[in-house]
Amino acid sequence: MTQQRVLLIISGGIAAYKSLELVRLLRKRGIAVRAVLTQSAAQFVTPLSLGVLTEDQVYEDLFDLKAEREIGHIQLSRQADLVVVAPATANILAKMANGIADDLATTLLLATDKPVLAVPAMNVRMWHHKATQRNLNQLRADGVQVMEPDDGAMACGEFGKGRLPEPEAIAAEIERLLSSVRPEPVEAPTDILNGRHILITAGPTHEPIDPVRYIANRSSGKQGFAIAAAAARAGARVTLVAGPVHLPTPAGVDRVDVETARDMLAAVEAALPADAAIMVAAVADWRTADAADQKLKKDGSGRPAPLTLVENPDILATLGHHAQRPALLVGFAAETQKIAEHAQAKLAKKRADWIVANDVSGPPGTSVMGGDANTVQIVTAAGIESWPSLPKGEVADKLIEKVAHALSSPRD
Ligand code: C5P
Repeated sequence: MTQQRVLLIISGGIAAYKSLELVRLLRKRGIAVRAVLTQSAAQFVTPLSLGVLTEDQVYEDLFDLKAEREIGHIQLSRQADLVVVAPATANILAKMANGIADDLATTLLLATDKPVLAVPAMNVRMWHHKATQRNLNQLRADGVQVMEPDDGAMACGEFGKGRLPEPEAIAAEIERLLSSVRPEPVEAPTDILNGRHILITAGPTHEPIDPVRYIANRSSGKQGFAIAAAAARAGARVTLVAGPVHLPTPAGVDRVDVETARDMLAAVEAALPADAAIMVAAVADWRTADAADQKLKKDGSGRPAPLTLVENPDILATLGHHAQRPALLVGFAAETQKIAEHAQAKLAKKRADWIVANDVSGPPGTSVMGGDANTVQIVTAAGIESWPSLPKGEVADKLIEKVAHALSSPRD
């Protein structure tokens, strides 16, 4: 396995000293770290100590011509699997949110095509300032993962939210994000979907019961996100309609975040026309008849509040019967028995071209839901193709190749 790599951008705040411990923990986990210091961060940690811990050159200034000659900033921004900004000051967050690139760190952040994790740390008032919150919302909408700061005593003597999370927690979050990133898409097909628009749904939906409770399922979104990433690598314009998941937006993908099945349907219809639609989301079949405006309370009678469910729209079937039906419509189906038979029935009912049936009946520990591997059968009018158990990234690449082939073949 190739070693995973993090580009760690350290911006200037008192919490910068914790980045040394973070580097140590990442190295201990077998992750390579290349560090970049902003000018103010260099006041808090020295390039020498970082260089010793990373066992690599430390990059500091955009106009370091020698470094630029040996490794340009574009290259530097792309050689990692994940870019981490920790600590991220209010200042660097503001620059990131506005696309400002006036030093090496912010230039790398603008040039990268890799997922980005920001770990803010700042004074509590700066954290709660409307400008900072606005910038954070913008960054989240742009696909940046933002880790929540801790609450507590601050170096400046104040108390509240804004402390850098403990290095152990940051390292765990980095490890989690890296586990959903494929290290090297070297063999991925390229350009086979140039000029195509591929619409993908992924993840679960959340159906509110009241303002704090909801109905959900265990879908992690990994398979759908991997398919979106593969389609983008293959040159397609990709719209990914995602339910609530904790996954970074794959490079080159337009992501629309939704909560409920009805929102997902609206986002899918708004994204039409598309050449192909791949509906991977585990859409909740039912929602509550009317979600309560206020939190439901126990009334002391011992009887639970009644929960009336109504059926959600079937997004795949709606597309199957839509005036703008995509030329190729692919559904997914999690089955535990009579996989092919159920998938055949679904093909007809939902007017889909293919159903990718995944067997979720495996022995404990091999669960498809949330796991990294998948065993699928592709059910079409022509028959059934069974694929061996593969990492979800490989299922995605194979499926995208098959989609490209189908779109380029004349249909009868
Ligand atoms: O009927 P079942 O839920 O097993 O069908 C699964 C397929 O249908 C998946 O492709 C899923 O995304 C899609 N689906 C949908 N809307 C629903 C339920 C399922 O698009 N309400």
